Amino acid sequence: MSAVPREGSAPPRTALLELQDVQAYYGLAHVLQGVSLGVRPGELVALLGRNGAGKTTTVKSIMGMVSVRGGSVRCDGRDVVGLPAEDVAQFGIGYVPEDRRMFPGLSVRENFRLAAIGARLPRGEQQDAQRRALEVFPQLEAHLDRDASRLSGGQQQMVAVGRALIGGRRLLLVDEITQGLAPNIAADLGRTLRHVADEGLGVLLVEQNSQMALELADQVYVIDQGVIVHSGDARELRADQSWMEQYLQL
Ligand SMILES: Nc1ncnc2c1ncn2[C@@H]1O[C@H](COP(=O)(O)OP(=O)(O)OP(=O)(O)O)[C@@H](O)[C@H]1O
Ligand SMILES: [Mg+2]
Repeated sequence: MSAVPREGSAPPRTALLELQDVQAYYGLAHVLQGVSLGVRPGELVALLGRNGAGKTTTVKSIMGMVSVRGGSVRCDGRDVVGLPAEDVAQFGIGYVPEDRRMFPGLSVRENFRLAAIGARLPRGEQQDAQRRALEVFPQLEAHLDRDASRLSGGQQQMVAVGRALIGGRRLLLVDEITQGLAPNIAADLGRTLRHVADEGLGVLLVEQNSQMALELADQVYVIDQGVIVHSGDARELRADQSWMEQYLQL
């Protein structure tokens, strides 16, 4: 996979998503201790870090799934701290959780239909949204009526991302979708996310495959023990990768 410079297509400065000094807790455990990052339209932002560093908690703090007791999470400039996940999603955010959660017995088509209902799309827009997801993953067309939980791991991740795309008209939050997939399948998914960003969506990608994420990303943030310890333009971080050893190796 090659790094694609994208000079001349700099995204607008306004952030779709902006986290500032986020402090998040599980009960008394103070897990995020000042996380700041931003995602703009058309931008793929990678969030990297060791196991337990706070990546999933960062995504959950956006979706209102953990207790944020300091700092701000802004979608389109509006603070969403305290809103339930369904309301945060109304900003056009699609979330692909770490565990892909395919309900047994539901076909791909039913997964997409439920995603459209869950995203509270008006009836007239539900079909269009499902069609758009299939345009991104035309491979799923042949499996629409199959039980999604019986598809291959890679196909299940396509369904998971497709579902998120249905409500996620503006921003996708993607948590470690390539885990356990064959390298070529993982690379395909990565390229698809890059394409989705090139079409104008913001993408926040949490990825254990740091090399792949670095190739795909525009901006990179590295989190360690709940704090952003390194960040920058992906092109610069590709050129000097000494930071990887410092922050990502066990
Ligand atoms: N539900 C929970 N209750 C208490 N502590 C939790 C909970 N979930 C996560 N933690 C702790 O919060 C910290 C950050 O976890 P988080 O899941 O955000 O890490 P991560 O970077 O996503 O790791 P991984 O790469 O393993 O997915 C860890 O110390 C973890 O043990
Ligand atoms: Mg995680």
